[in-house]
Amino acid sequence: MDKLLIRGGSVLKGEVAMSGAKNAALPILCASLLSADPLELGNVPQLNDISTMLRLLGDMGIGVRHEGDDGLTLDGSGLNNPVASYEMVKTMRASILVLGPLVARCGEARVSLPGGCAIGARPVDQHIKGLQAMGAEVTVEQGYVHARASRLKGARICTDMVTVTGTENLMMAACLADGETIIENAAREPEVVDLANCLVAMGARISGAGTDIIRIQGVEKLHGARHSIMPDRIETGTYLCAAAVTGGDIRLTRTSAAYLDSVVDKLMDAGCEIVVERDAIRLTAPAKLKSVSLRTAPYPAFPTDMQAQFMAMNCVADGVATIRETIFENRFMHVSELMRLGANIQIEGNNAIVRGVDRLEGATVMATDLRASASLIIAGLVASGETLIDRIYHLDRGYERIEQKLAALGASVERVR
Ligand code: UD1
Repeated sequence: MDKLLIRGGSVLKGEVAMSGAKNAALPILCASLLSADPLELGNVPQLNDISTMLRLLGDMGIGVRHEGDDGLTLDGSGLNNPVASYEMVKTMRASILVLGPLVARCGEARVSLPGGCAIGARPVDQHIKGLQAMGAEVTVEQGYVHARASRLKGARICTDMVTVTGTENLMMAACLADGETIIENAAREPEVVDLANCLVAMGARISGAGTDIIRIQGVEKLHGARHSIMPDRIETGTYLCAAAVTGGDIRLTRTSAAYLDSVVDKLMDAGCEIVVERDAIRLTAPAKLKSVSLRTAPYPAFPTDMQAQFMAMNCVADGVATIRETIFENRFMHVSELMRLGANIQIEGNNAIVRGVDRLEGATVMATDLRASASLIIAGLVASGETLIDRIYHLDRGYERIEQKLAALGASVERVR
């Protein structure tokens, strides 16, 4: 099993391009289920989660053609098997995103329930409740959600909490429903907007994406379209933290600060200088970072997917920070690993209190989920000596060519067996 060996102490400098957003690409790949015409996509990141989704769609009869490094054409004309098996769903919870489009186009779907995952129970009750409101008959049998509807009907849906993939699933289902669907308490994440833009290009009638009320007028069918995936704001934020912690000076290209306000604000509070260009961001780190407290919440507030990376930064910052996680109940698994590197962190319920220390020391640590792995890299970059990160398959789910990108910025990072 691959591990990542980091020799700490390098100062990150230089320029590197960011990839397309994993969390926008996953739902957009599923949008191909809604039409019999080809969907041409650009800026698709090469990640394990993307390959998993393509395998899942392929099993259902979607034709997949790769075009160059980051292009894909998905052909929905052969869709014939509206089933997502346990074997596929267990490796990636986002597989639930096929549910809405399948019921809408095929009148039926059988999708394995995602089990608990490392960062919490993560139920899908809101996805199911929304489809039921649209007239689907939903049963849960032998671990599978079985949903049926000859044609979904427009409905008013108010989700109990803000759910990103829940909003995306219901928005896709509503595109082919009979009449108007209104999703209240909708997620406002930029990835929801990117999906809506792709669906509109396919002929969907959607307004309000990016606000907490999305209106969808159902249409009979969607057609083919071309769409380029938005840049990955979490990848961007992760590299900014990596540069910040090493006292570096980097410029990230093919990205945008437009969706990163809360992260950029916190980096500036930590003492970093940030210059925002149209398609690039430059960060210059201070000699010593200041601690920054934060609280995760749905967009536009601070993203839970950046919590672990800021925790790593705070480990070596000047002062004491309180980090409050409000989205997932068990998202502090990186804490015990960071403490193995010498961090001083105390957990009290949903809060982690991080007292900055003068130095971290390399050790063998274990990646427990995608963003936890990123936090260990950040800590490893500043730790003295060698840090060996075990189980980096988590990392390959969400960071494209991470060793090459870090090496291009001057880090000493090596994949070892
Ligand atoms: C998405 C992102 C993930 C990010 C998360 C929160 C993708 C592929 N993944 O995950 O990277 O960390 O948003 O920004 O886009 N919940 C329920 N019932 C439901 C749905 C959700 O109780 O039916 C709860 C969850 O357990 C969690 C909260 O709602 O506590 C938010 O989860 P949600 O926004 O749905 O996360 P995902 O869409 O799975």
